[in-house]
Amino acid sequence: MKKVRIGIVGVGNMGSAHIKSVAEIEKAELAAICDLDKAKADEKAKDAGCKAFYNATEMLESGTIDAVIIATPHYDHLPIAAKAFECGVHVLSEKPIAVHKNDAQKMIDAHNQHPELKFAAMFQQRTIKAHMKIKQLIDSGELGEIKRVNWIITDWFRTQRYYDSGGWRATWKGEGGGVLLNQCPHQLDLFQWFFGLPVKVWSKVSIGKYHNIEVEDDVSTFCEFSNGATGSFITSTGESPGTNRLEITGDRGRLVLENGELSFKRTELNVSEFCATTSESFAHAPVWDVKIPCGKDSANAHKDVIADFVNAILEDRAPLAPAEQGINSVEFGNAMLYSGLKGVTVNMPLDGDAYETMLMELINNSTFKKSEVKAAKVDMSSSF
Ligand SMILES: NC(=O)c1ccc[n+]([C@@H]2O[C@H](COP(=O)([O-])OP(=O)(O)OC[C@H]3O[C@@H](n4cnc5c(N)ncnc54)[C@H](O)[C@@H]3O)[C@@H](O)[C@H]2O)c1
Repeated sequence: MKKVRIGIVGVGNMGSAHIKSVAEIEKAELAAICDLDKAKADEKAKDAGCKAFYNATEMLESGTIDAVIIATPHYDHLPIAAKAFECGVHVLSEKPIAVHKNDAQKMIDAHNQHPELKFAAMFQQRTIKAHMKIKQLIDSGELGEIKRVNWIITDWFRTQRYYDSGGWRATWKGEGGGVLLNQCPHQLDLFQWFFGLPVKVWSKVSIGKYHNIEVEDDVSTFCEFSNGATGSFITSTGESPGTNRLEITGDRGRLVLENGELSFKRTELNVSEFCATTSESFAHAPVWDVKIPCGKDSANAHKDVIADFVNAILEDRAPLAPAEQGINSVEFGNAMLYSGLKGVTVNMPLDGDAYETMLMELINNSTFKKSEVKAAKVDMSSSF
């Protein structure tokens, strides 16, 4: 059986987890590891029994790999992906695919020059059964027309020590943002996967509200969709215990995902029809409580996304999370930051040039001095 030869660029917290995952995939072979930190690359490559590189271009040009997993800090995703496509190498990029909309578009443009190659994003939360079920219920019309969506995702608590553990973290120059760039890309992706992008976005953004950092750690967003439905998206890395509650109200009832459980109060008929036709003044539309069995989730969703990427290459089909869709979560997060920092309502699509200009100003005007401690080992299971 033909195996896909994989190279991993960036073998820090996430890249190290990917080394283990690739080893468990029958149709994949870990052929090379690359990290700017020579000692780290050598040690990981020795353990894995593969070749070490200290420069991504050299690995991509070496002819030793068919596909690359990019697990570096965010700004490097674009140049490494663009080089990979030039070298005829398939790409699986960690989230977010890029820091800002213009860079995401450049990645997509680079891929469009080589459409025969696969370009996937590590959006492993799309494989969670409850998320797949929500997508199915929305797309099938089971919920009726969507009227309101609220997502409170404040269980991304991080300590000061976490932020101090890596020089690139929580800086405009190194990471490009805070909770919206590092923790929330999964929910931003799911939000746009379920509901599409809104047409208007307004946010209250707090910089370093709970931590000594120069980027956002608390965001409350209000948005509007093209059908008039409204949405809120609230996130923070400063609350403990936090909440992860998604509530979707449609014309056929209310679906809630909380504590990993889906509950659906389904109305017997459309609420709009009930409202217009009932002879009662204070009645509610009758509801059924619907239990939605979702099944057990996989123990390693990252591995599942890598396995899907490998199969997409071997079977020449689209991957589960095509990276082209990754631009939507980048644009949504950028719009939140732009709205909050400029104090304006953003009409979508976001002006990518205006956002990039704002980001460059934040980088160039930064006077923040980062305190740093020796990198603590981060348990990636908590990043899921
Ligand atoms: N999918 C998830 O659940 C998940 C979870 C955490 C992090 N991530 C993402 O993974 C990526 C990496 O995050 P991390 O927490 O592992 O970071 P990290 O700092 O632990 O590791 C990054 C590694 O990349 C290396 N590196 C930096 N630039 C490089 C370059 N140009 N070429 C080669 N190596 C380079 C560094 O030396 C370091 O070893 C980010 O995009 C992050 O958002 C994804």
